[in-house]
Amino acid sequence: MRKRAYISSTGSYLPDYVLTNSEIATMVDTTDEWISERCGVKERRILKDKNLATAYMAKMAGERAMQKAKISGEEIEIVIVATATPEHQFPATAAIVADMLGIKNAWCFDQMAACSGFLFALNTAAKLIESGSYKTILLIGSDKMSSIMDFTNRNTCVLFGDGAGALILKATDAPYGIKKSVLRTDGSGYKYLYQKAGGSLFPATAETVLNKEHSLSMNGQAVFKTAVNNISESCVKLLEISDLSAADIKYFIPHQANKRIILAVAEKLELPLDKVMMNIEKYGNTTCASIPIGLDEWSNRFKTGDIIMICAFGAGFSWGALSLNWLEEN
Ligand code: UT7
Repeated sequence: MRKRAYISSTGSYLPDYVLTNSEIATMVDTTDEWISERCGVKERRILKDKNLATAYMAKMAGERAMQKAKISGEEIEIVIVATATPEHQFPATAAIVADMLGIKNAWCFDQMAACSGFLFALNTAAKLIESGSYKTILLIGSDKMSSIMDFTNRNTCVLFGDGAGALILKATDAPYGIKKSVLRTDGSGYKYLYQKAGGSLFPATAETVLNKEHSLSMNGQAVFKTAVNNISESCVKLLEISDLSAADIKYFIPHQANKRIILAVAEKLELPLDKVMMNIEKYGNTTCASIPIGLDEWSNRFKTGDIIMICAFGAGFSWGALSLNWLEEN
């Protein structure tokens, strides 16, 4: 019997500290009005404790998903953490998170595709389950974006926030779960959105720190246009290869990068807004965490058979869309 992968449970974690637009306006030359209108963000969460980072938030979200699924660490065979802000350059943050969660029998790795990281990881995890070799995978998206933000640069610091989301992916014989995907990467766009220093090309020096090259650098306009076009194209292609129309989509869970990007894509696809998950107002862009946080926030609405479309766009450029047929746990 062909195995399929389905989402058995979800969990999320958002740090307590709320950084409002009015507080950001005391740091850079901006206004609540500009940020709300141009980005759709009103506030974002920040992990203030300097001793805690991506792995802690990942652990918190993962623990919640495990509790909901009522599974112990022993049952988990693989841990994947999608992140653009790993705990360290190496080892994988997933290794650290597995240890925090007492997961001893799994192999663990990180998925790096910036804001598309969770989408790519979900597709990878689903394929591993469909291979028949694995039954239970813990998949987490976690990012402490505040750790790579230049809070003197209004072009970037208004957009991002910290957070984590997780899900347990399990095997089923039922005809539900992760269906099809359209995933793409175009590396010619990499300099429009990247963290210049800290890797092997520009290791940390006094100069890279002075030049703020360890902070996220972005050409907002180039990213915006490419995001709208590429997300829309991949969603249309996904519908085509799935033999679905937009009307068949019950819920649309897009990566939360900018409210105007989400609205433009929804309009192109002719999706009514009550089907479109939007929480960017509260959390900003949490990079790899935005999709699992969105799934967790709306998980109570999902019923068996609902068709859900997920999409993302991020640095690389990387982007894509994936469809799934929800299966409720008994
Ligand atoms: O997950 C993927 C990651 N990133 C994205 O998806 C981001 C995609 N890009 C965007 O969301 C938008 O391009 C931004 C929100 C970053 C910027 O919005 P925009 O409408 O493209 O603004 P802009 O860069 O064209 O700037 C318009 C004006 C400029 O002033 P002038 O030259 O017209 O006088 C900017 O200096 O707005 C100014 N500006 C600001 N003003 C107040 C830029 N940032 C700010 C700000 N507050 N924070």
